[in-house]
Amino acid sequence: MLLYCASVMALIIVSFLLFEQDALQWVSSAISELSGYHGSGLFLLFLFVVIMLAFDIILPVPSSVVAMFAVAVLGPLPGAASVWLGLTLGCCVGYWLGDCSEKWISTRWLSVKERQKARQLADKMGGGALIMMRGVPVLAETSVIAAGMVQYPFAKFLLLTSLANGWLAGAFAYVSLYSAESDPFFLVLAGSVLIPVIGWLLQKLWQGVASVSGDVSTSDIQQSAIEIQTIKARFTVHYQYPVCFTHDVFSPSNSDLLTLLLRAGQEGEAQGCVLIVDQGVVNETPDWLERAQVYFQQHHQYIHLKGQPLVVEGGEAIKQASQTDKLYQYLLSHQVDRHNVVIAVGGGAVLDTVGYVCATFHRGIKLLRMPSTVLAQNDAGVGVKNGVNGYGSKNLIGTFCPPFAVLNDFSLLNTLSHRDRRAGLAEAVKVAAIRSVGFFDWLENNAHSLNAFEDKATRYAIARCAELHINQITLAGDPFEAGNARPLDYGHWAAHKLEAMSHYECRHGEAVAIGMALDAYYATEIGLLGQSDRQRLIQLLTALGFALWHPALDQYDELGQPLVFRGLEDFRQHLGGQLCVTLLSSVGVGVEVHDIDSDRLLIAMRALKRDHQAEVAVQSESLTWSEVS
Ligand SMILES: NC(=O)c1ccc[n+]([C@@H]2O[C@H](COP(=O)([O-])OP(=O)(O)OC[C@H]3O[C@@H](n4cnc5c(N)ncnc54)[C@H](O)[C@@H]3O)[C@@H](O)[C@H]2O)c1
Ligand SMILES: [Zn+2]
Repeated sequence: MLLYCASVMALIIVSFLLFEQDALQWVSSAISELSGYHGSGLFLLFLFVVIMLAFDIILPVPSSVVAMFAVAVLGPLPGAASVWLGLTLGCCVGYWLGDCSEKWISTRWLSVKERQKARQLADKMGGGALIMMRGVPVLAETSVIAAGMVQYPFAKFLLLTSLANGWLAGAFAYVSLYSAESDPFFLVLAGSVLIPVIGWLLQKLWQGVASVSGDVSTSDIQQSAIEIQTIKARFTVHYQYPVCFTHDVFSPSNSDLLTLLLRAGQEGEAQGCVLIVDQGVVNETPDWLERAQVYFQQHHQYIHLKGQPLVVEGGEAIKQASQTDKLYQYLLSHQVDRHNVVIAVGGGAVLDTVGYVCATFHRGIKLLRMPSTVLAQNDAGVGVKNGVNGYGSKNLIGTFCPPFAVLNDFSLLNTLSHRDRRAGLAEAVKVAAIRSVGFFDWLENNAHSLNAFEDKATRYAIARCAELHINQITLAGDPFEAGNARPLDYGHWAAHKLEAMSHYECRHGEAVAIGMALDAYYATEIGLLGQSDRQRLIQLLTALGFALWHPALDQYDELGQPLVFRGLEDFRQHLGGQLCVTLLSSVGVGVEVHDIDSDRLLIAMRALKRDHQAEVAVQSESLTWSEVS
């Protein structure tokens, strides 16, 4: 911190040494130019003084010359006012510069400890330093920049510097009027430094007397209450994690996993890891675990497995609190600590659960996700959320916690059921529908290949969807969903409810497809989305093989209202306040609405069911024809 302040001072001094003569000449000629002004021209003079003094903080402006000129030409009162305003604006500019540089410079140049020290120093020095240094060249600039850097309470900063500037402006006015024959610069300096120093010493003396006598007045208590309210705990946390794509991760020639694990940087010894694997993966590829162990053996110098891998149940069944217990116990018994890496391999449900456990065990341990379903590779496994279901609500308990790394191994998808391959494509349609008409076009043009699960098309769809998903998280300014908007949850208010209503028979992706279709019908019903755009969405989902109705939707409450509508209230509660649902205004453009009209939603839902039944009838007819022929 001291080094940084010294650099700021050096910069100011050097710029003065280099440019002071030029600046003095320029200001003097500007002054003689402006001195002839009268009447409304005086306002220009006033403005000139304010601007000069405001930028004194970054430019080598001879402030005492400008100030003396202001008082001489504008008169004592307007002159002093222009000096006061200019100096005070200059303080704000300096504070702002310090505040910005704190973010840009100190986070790079200063360690956490150094920044802590800087704040302590500023606290100790308090406002006294700001007042004392106000009239001292170079230190005046440095002290306000430093105040910004340590985020000295702005209101207090403004009050102190305004008062000190008032004093300074008054001193200039006095000197200019009554001491014309003395050296004005040194007179002002002496007056502006000496008198505040005396005042500050008197204040300290008074504080000392008060504390010795133990006499704490009500105003002291009020003052400390104000200070407590203004303490700012502000810091920035930088997150970065790679999302990589690979094929056959345990092939002896594939070093992708090794490279990622070495980023954990445990020096001097092999990186300790544990492996937690979805039962679905192991069932379909019985030698998968053995291959993993051989891989670790092959690279034993750098990485090692702490004990036997843990195989866990896949699918929604794992997303419950009772399952997290087993995971905590496994981590505990293998003495997993914050230097180790947990490698989780599985579908979205396993990754959500292991992710939650890793985020909370020892207050957060490193998680390397290896998503094993289409949906996990393009959505669930690449983002920053985790969670388990609880108290009848989906994802009720969870955290926002970025992973250490993500490694998408396409070869894991070879064993995935057609149903699960298709389900994952719903998230690709979702992100295209709200964010990218280009990707939507691509999905339409490749729907046939995707429906046939062709590798090339599936891989592109996954990678592009993951990219758009990550862009939304990293670039939209709300990675941890502090605001109400949830664009990535398009179609999800109904989807989450439908999953629960079907007792998780309906896959997440299947439910999202239905949720999007329902919201598209509703958007058309309220005149937001054109018929042709809605038709494009419905046709794409149908071409990808999604059924746009589920029997669980035929459940109603005692008032005859579809049960799925309760998903809106669940969603509102999850957002915590105002409802905010993303709807489409056209393909590729998501918009937020805050009210859903249940009567119109009912009309939309009936229309969706009717069209679905018509589609099923057409399909079974064409099936009969093909059987006959
Ligand atoms: N955290 C997030 O941001 C986020 C985003 C979207 C979805 N999700 C969650 O993800 C879950 C859905 O994930 P999903 O669609 O991946 O399904 P899933 O995790 O429920 O898995 C479906 C089935 O596939 C099996 N399986 C997994 N990998 C396999 C493989 N390679 N071969 C054969 N079978 C395999 C599983 O054992 C399971 O039976 C939901 O709980 C949803 O809430 C989370
Ligand atoms: Zn989803």
